[in-house]
Order: sequence, then C-alpha cells, then structure tokens
Amino acid sequence: MIKADTTDNGRLTKMIKITDLWKAFEDHQVLKGVNLHIRQNEVMVIIGQSGCGKSVLLKLIIELLKPDRGRIEIFGQDITRLKGEALHKIQMRTGMVFQGSALFDSLTIGQNVGFFLYEHTDLDETTISGIVKEKLALVGLEGIENKKPSELSGGMKKRVALARVIAYEPEIIFYDEPTTGIDPIRGSGINRLIKKLQEKFSLTSVVVTHDMVSAYQIADRIAMLYDGRIIEVGTPDQIRQTKDPVVRQFITGEANGPIQ
Ligand SMILES: Nc1ncnc2c1ncn2[C@@H]1O[C@H](COP(=O)(O)OP(=O)(O)O)[C@@H](O)[C@H]1O
Ligand SMILES: [Mg+2]
Repeated sequence: MIKADTTDNGRLTKMIKITDLWKAFEDHQVLKGVNLHIRQNEVMVIIGQSGCGKSVLLKLIIELLKPDRGRIEIFGQDITRLKGEALHKIQMRTGMVFQGSALFDSLTIGQNVGFFLYEHTDLDETTISGIVKEKLALVGLEGIENKKPSELSGGMKKRVALARVIAYEPEIIFYDEPTTGIDPIRGSGINRLIKKLQEKFSLTSVVVTHDMVSAYQIADRIAMLYDGRIIEVGTPDQIRQTKDPVVRQFITGEANGPIQ
C-alpha cells in the first residue's frame, strides 16, 4: 500500500522524486519498484530490516550504483540520464555521510574536512582552513585539525564525516546508519547534531536506519522499505498508529508476525 505524498498540497518542492526504481544483483531482486517523494527541508527517515536494500537505495541516489529501471529526479533533473559535468554539478549540491564515516586514514582531520574544497574549488589554503575550523566547531570538535582519524572514537569520526560534508554546504545530505555502532547517548548527540545542521543550513536530509529510537528522534516523516518497495510513508505519529501488520511488527520489534 503506497500512501506517499497524498497530503502534499503542492506548496512544498519535491527535492527528490524516485519513480519505479528497480535493482537486482544477478538473480537477487533487491528493489522492486520503489516510489518515494522527499520534500524540501524535511528529514526523511527510511527504515527497514538489515539487508532490505536501504544502502543500495542511497547508493543509487548518489550514483554509486546504476538502477535496472526507474527514475531518480533531484532538483527536477533525472540523474540516471545525466553524465559528466551535469551530473557532477548535482553531486556537488548533495553530500553523503557513509556508515563507517569513510575518512581518509592517511590525511589529518583538517585535510579530511577540507577535502572537497581542495579538490573542487579554487579557494586558497587560508580560506579553506578558516572553513575547516568553523565546521569543526559546528560539530563540537574544535582544535583537532592536526589529529589523524585513528586517534578518534567512532562518534568523533561521525562528527568529522559530517563536518566534511557541510564544508561545501550541500542542499541535501544523505546519512547511512548514522548512529549504528555508537552507544545510545552518543547516538542521541549525533541525532541532535543532524537536526541542528538541518535547521542552520535549511537542509533536506535523508537518513537510513534500522534504529526506531533514532527515527522517532529526528524524522519529519518516516518511510518503510520492505520487500523491495516503500510500503508506508507518514509522520512519526502516523507510523506509531499504523494498521499495516508489517510496519507494526517492525516498529515494535515483535518476534511473531509477517516478517520472518
Ligand atoms: N554490490 C553488491 N553486489 C551484490 N549484492 C549486493 C551488493 N550490494 C548489496 N547487495 C545485496 O543487496 C541486499 C541489500 O543490501 P543493503 O542495501 O546493503 O541492505 P541494508 O538495508 O542493510 O542497507 C543485500 O542482500 C546485499 O547482500
Ligand atoms: Mg546498509
């Protein structure tokens, strides 16, 4: 049952519009017709069991993978049809915080946070180090520019990964399991930070997680991915009151139900 965007009154721009998206790996059909609209300036949380295809969906949206079928419109352009400079332009307006943070181990924290600015802009060293300092302060990590990733905890690495993405001020940020692998208290800290950056930069955020506590903490809307499709979309309150037996079982974590 797809309930996506029935309440959309047209005033809210659809930043991301995914239509009939399919993806298989050999004979394993992972996505079977995903439809989802994400509005400007919302935090959309995509929930679902481990292995259901959440990371695959994000990788398709950021063009790390190619879909077998379907459209992915970002800022009104179908990125599955774009190449080269046109695609790169869209990619520079979006950013991804990967599950393992994906920092470059051989670079300092400062070089990591400034990475995209060194690579893709003509800004000089002094300007970049100013931006790096400012973004590290925003994520609560001042003065660690000269440290290496190996000297930081998992939670700190997540914050650095966030600073690296906001350094070039994208309009959309994708987060893959931002609280997985860190303790619940630090996880809540990361969630608060996601909300704070969302408000400060008027971002649109797409967060993938299997953690319902985090989903309720940060979501404007929650979408559930199950058996290759989005089976329900709604506000946290609507999801809490769901009548769908699959969604109900997932959010309550009961052992018995339609999910095996
Ligand atoms: N590059 C790949 N090659 C083959 N199978 C893959 C690949 N990436 C993901 N898969 C498979 O697709 C399914 C969904 O994976 P994933 O999106 O990582 O799940 P999750 O919802 O936990 O993020 C899994 O069964 C996984 O093994
Ligand atoms: Mg994943």
